[in-house]
Amino acid sequence: MNNNYILHQGDTREIINQMIINNEFVDMIFTSPPYYNNRKNYSGNADGEIGSISADEYADWFLTFTEKFLQVLKINGSFFLNINDKIHNGVVHPVIDELKYKMRKQGWFLVAKPYIWFKKSAMPHNCKYRTIDRYEYIFHFSNSNKPNFYAGNCRVPHSKVSIKRYETPVTTMDSRDGKYNKSKKTLHKDGGFPHNVIIANLESNSSILHPAPFPVELVEWFIKIGSLENDIVLDPFCGSSSTGIASLKHNRKYIGIDIIDFNVDFSKKRLDHFLKTKETYIPKNMFNEYNIDDKFYKQKGKHLLNL
Ligand SMILES: C[S@@+](CC[C@H](N)C(=O)[O-])C[C@H]1O[C@@H](n2cnc3c(N)ncnc32)[C@H](O)[C@@H]1O
Repeated sequence: MNNNYILHQGDTREIINQMIINNEFVDMIFTSPPYYNNRKNYSGNADGEIGSISADEYADWFLTFTEKFLQVLKINGSFFLNINDKIHNGVVHPVIDELKYKMRKQGWFLVAKPYIWFKKSAMPHNCKYRTIDRYEYIFHFSNSNKPNFYAGNCRVPHSKVSIKRYETPVTTMDSRDGKYNKSKKTLHKDGGFPHNVIIANLESNSSILHPAPFPVELVEWFIKIGSLENDIVLDPFCGSSSTGIASLKHNRKYIGIDIIDFNVDFSKKRLDHFLKTKETYIPKNMFNEYNIDDKFYKQKGKHLLNL
């Protein structure tokens, strides 16, 4: 690790096998994997791209990765998984339920209800039977039912109503014997306890050369709640390394893995640019200087949008 990050190009399962042999373990995993589709093609094309996985086969396919994540995650570490439902033949496919059930059998603890990533904007559609989809899930898995968790890092400003309410002594019933406690309660000085809805825009900065990048602000919230400074954060399907930017921003160390060498190369340039300038994005007018091919995804064809 160059003190801050390591990037690996290759199949995540093989890279993690190697990490385990080298005694390299991580404190937290945050990722969004390749999604399911109706086409049954996950064997990959000749140039190393992967295609998409059918929803029926997805859980078993993904379990071959989560098996490795279990081995590389330190005890009490967290695995945050961003994944969305799949509408198939007009109904919600049960793939997420299947995945949760099988991961439980594999040894994972699902320690909370899903976090909701609420998008400030979303793609319109005109389906007769469904409203516009404005949220995605982030599931919090761990190898223990007492994961390291730092909710205090994500406290939110107190609402006006709470501030007003606490101006006068608050009467609460603290004990089960029915006696009232009239002592004055005070608001926490750093704000209220965070809740499980995180509001973040879709990433729309066109200088990120990936079809499905995370908004950095979304990842930042999970990095703060699931890890401490100097901890190691892994994104096993790292794409453009938005997880890496969020990790470095908060003084975590970062390991990114992606099967497509363009993504690894772009990630390296993006992370180095961040370390030099603290900018989240490489300005487009610097692409030449960094020798970045901004036509990569345009040339490669539509199927890449399924990643
Ligand atoms: C949904 S994208 C992740 C995008 C990322 N969150 C970002 O912010 O850019 C999934 C990524 O997984 C990569 N991928 C797919 N199969 C893989 C495998 N077997 N091993 C490693 N990476 C893989 C794809 O190349 C793709 O970049």
